[in-house]
Amino acid sequence: MKESNLENKLQKIDEATFQEDLLHWFHDQKRSLPWREDQDPYKVWVSEIMLQQTKVDTVIPYFNRFIEKFPTVEKLAAAEEQDVLKAWEGLGYYSRAKNLQYAVREVAETYNGKVPNNAEHLSALKGVGPYTTGAILSIAYGVPEPAVDGNVMRVLSRILMINDDIAKASTRRIFETAVKELISHEDPSGFNQGLMELGALVCTPKSPACMLCPVQSHCQAFDEGVQLEYPVKTKAKKQKKLAYFTCVLQNEQGEFFIEQRPNEGLLANMWQFPMVLKQDVDEEHLEAWVEEKFQVKIKEKQKLPGIKHVFSHVIWDLDVRLFEIEIEGDSKVKRSMLKLDELSVYPFPVPFQKLIHSLT
Ligand code: ADE
Repeated sequence: MKESNLENKLQKIDEATFQEDLLHWFHDQKRSLPWREDQDPYKVWVSEIMLQQTKVDTVIPYFNRFIEKFPTVEKLAAAEEQDVLKAWEGLGYYSRAKNLQYAVREVAETYNGKVPNNAEHLSALKGVGPYTTGAILSIAYGVPEPAVDGNVMRVLSRILMINDDIAKASTRRIFETAVKELISHEDPSGFNQGLMELGALVCTPKSPACMLCPVQSHCQAFDEGVQLEYPVKTKAKKQKKLAYFTCVLQNEQGEFFIEQRPNEGLLANMWQFPMVLKQDVDEEHLEAWVEEKFQVKIKEKQKLPGIKHVFSHVIWDLDVRLFEIEIEGDSKVKRSMLKLDELSVYPFPVPFQKLIHSLT
């Protein structure tokens, strides 16, 4: 959208009453959420990272447990990465947890444990993009900076009839310009959280509750009856399907073999049962592959229920096989066999948590 076009649309908004209507509604109707109990910048930071790509209801118990375990910058900085991943287990997008700890360590070392209160230092931290920078500055420090996420883009695309594709990364800047113009300088925190809350509770994607909307009288899309045509968003590519054999190796003592994933890529550093793409090893050669790779002898085999898991960009289709094994010589597997109840300290991606659950 051209600057002049956005300016025209912004000019139709009476800023003072828009702020007043939004803020009044937010302070009256806001949900009581654990990260709203104080303005501790560290807690705001943790909550905003967890809330990226994850719903509020899912985040609440994770946030509470995480803060109980790692209540301060210093505690998180000093923690083992595996314990941080374990606390994140099931939330997904685990690089968020690793980046958060990396950045928190930098805050501990460089800023004496105090979360920076300016955009330059904040946005230089790992995993802290423009959204998180704006959220921390406005919510924890009361600085009038935009914090534009998907909810905020949906709300403002309707209010201002912004036609730009919100799936494009460059579009966020248009919304930031709009927020900079509209934001309350008395209550930036309430303003930004008010827009997020409106998106979550009223201005929802498929059936917005326009009759209950505190800023209905400011909404240009409502005025024209076209609110469902916003936001404009091109469809994401379909996820790629990956079919794997997943091999549960169990010895005579009933112990299992697990391995750590590589420290880069999807689910980095998490734990798993060995997997192999079906395109690399076919059914006929699977047992030979297992015996060769892990230096074991298979005594019995059994097919377990399959597991399907949808990630953001891929879908895993796991064909799960239980192999009862005898360990040969100095197989590397020998030192990595764990009892079922010993598995619980290791962080596993959700599909393997399901699998472990089915073994109990
Ligand atoms: N989504 C992202 N940030 C949020 C917040 N602070 N409160 C509620 N929902 C959110």
